[in-house]
Amino acid sequence: MTRVAILPSAEAAAVTVATCIADALQVDPELVIGLPTGQTPIPMYRALVELHRQGRADFGRATTFNLDEFVGLAPGDLGSYHAYMRAHLFDAINLAPERMHLFNGKRKDWRREIARFDAALSALGGLTIAVVGIGRNGHIGFNEPAPALATASHRVRLTEASRRANAAAFGGRWRRVPTHALSMGIGSILRARTVLLLATGAHKAAIVARALHGPITTRVPASLLQAHPNVLVVLDRAAAGKLPMSERRLSRGSTMKS
Ligand code: PGA
Repeated sequence: MTRVAILPSAEAAAVTVATCIADALQVDPELVIGLPTGQTPIPMYRALVELHRQGRADFGRATTFNLDEFVGLAPGDLGSYHAYMRAHLFDAINLAPERMHLFNGKRKDWRREIARFDAALSALGGLTIAVVGIGRNGHIGFNEPAPALATASHRVRLTEASRRANAAAFGGRWRRVPTHALSMGIGSILRARTVLLLATGAHKAAIVARALHGPITTRVPASLLQAHPNVLVVLDRAAAGKLPMSERRLSRGSTMKS
């Protein structure tokens, strides 16, 4: 079942997702959380850091798994998602480094790297909550549109769209964005007990509508979430702009089944 929450602003949507994570941490301090990167989650991480400062989000016993990392970048490299996570969340919360799981994009033997990552994830029983974004091409993590999708973590060739979407961290030059990434598999995301999808901005409206109401297809990886039993899609008004009018009316300020 998919519930949709439409908030009046991107900031309010970000706070909603951060609050869901904080609330879940209170119920289960040993939460295993899948974490996204990109532009959209930045205000969500800001809100989560604020909740942590207020004593409402304790990461002392939590574990995180990032959805993806660029191939060829070391954890210390500026454009890496390691660096992103330190800047936006990790340096400001009480999460122990050994509980932060990210792919090392620099490791030559990437098959071993993804095996290490997936073994750590299954040792904990998988994700309790997967927080995901959606690319304009419908990807989640870097599970790019394709005729078939890998269930486990894998190495993926990035589409030009995804490289362009990440240009900001590479001096605005999309050709400098690495050509490949390591991504958590769609199976690990779909096995999460709860999936929180955050999308904001008018540029996401068309793909959000396709993901929620179009056919389930690996050409729109986020559409697979329609088959998941517990998904909350958190949108601002702009990202909800192409949903059916009835849904937009009903879900304003509350949530509804999709
Ligand atoms: P964005 O990326 O937040 O930068 O749009 C989302 C995604 O690609 O999952």
